[in-house]
Amino acid sequence: MLETINRLILPQVSSTFAADVDGLFTFINVASAIILLGITVAIIYFSVKYKRKSEDDVTPVIRYNTTLELTWTIIPLILILIVFAWGFRGHIDMRTPPSNAYEVYVTANSFFWQFTYPNGVQTTDELYVPAGRPVKLIMQSRDVIHSFFVPDFRVKQDVLPGRYTTAWFQTLGTGEHVIFCTEYCGSGHSDMDGMVYAIEPEEFDAWLREQKELSEQELPLAVLGQNLYQQQGCAGCHSLDGNVVIGPSFQGLYMDERQGADGSSRVADEDYLRESINNPGEFITSGFNNIMPGYSYLSEDQVSAIIEFIKEQQ
Ligand code: CUA
Repeated sequence: MLETINRLILPQVSSTFAADVDGLFTFINVASAIILLGITVAIIYFSVKYKRKSEDDVTPVIRYNTTLELTWTIIPLILILIVFAWGFRGHIDMRTPPSNAYEVYVTANSFFWQFTYPNGVQTTDELYVPAGRPVKLIMQSRDVIHSFFVPDFRVKQDVLPGRYTTAWFQTLGTGEHVIFCTEYCGSGHSDMDGMVYAIEPEEFDAWLREQKELSEQELPLAVLGQNLYQQQGCAGCHSLDGNVVIGPSFQGLYMDERQGADGSSRVADEDYLRESINNPGEFITSGFNNIMPGYSYLSEDQVSAIIEFIKEQQ
């Protein structure tokens, strides 16, 4: 029956410690209900039994009753110690993220949540997490005090400007869970909500990669190209200052007329550069060796970005 009542009045149980929190909550409720019932019955019983029946009724003077004193001291003491030990154990659990927890940075703003993943991907008001894996949130506020609350997880933690607070959780499975800001933070407080999407770990990894690619596309092409120039190792062979390292320098390369080793010539336009990135062996400039690996695994957008970067090197 308690289960049924809990299911009616409490949010769904979706994190590893939610059930324990509910257990303590139920224990306090049931203990309080029993005490309330006992006291109410006693009051009614005594007020009937000891009602003054005649003018000569004299109230006996009772100064002390050791048994009674001990009973109503020891029983509440035991109850409170149980609540303390239970709550303390749960608190320690909630304050101690496992060392292998997946970390996400959370920035609270008036009036939205920003989530930053280890690879630099950012989302707003939507927190994606791998289901069934511990997730640690490292949180700070850009302005006033907010509070991060996911009822389904029984996780609630203040988010402060100027210092980090942390919270962690591990979902029991996949699902969608509402995030609330639960510290009044201004006129938009009630709109400051979001969603946690707990998805399969493999799905999560794929999502993260996809977001990473999207976020790269949002950079100006030439800036993205410059990043790729470093990340993909182009810098090892192609200088930007005209010096020949191993391959031709990128300086002045765009639209330059290139003499091929086979006597032909081509203008280094976009098509030429694209081909040289994907399939370098097709045209080897006179004086260079055919040693560059092909980069055909790059996306078209990445290739365009590198071309834009090369065009800037005049
Ligand atoms: Cu943020 Cu209330």
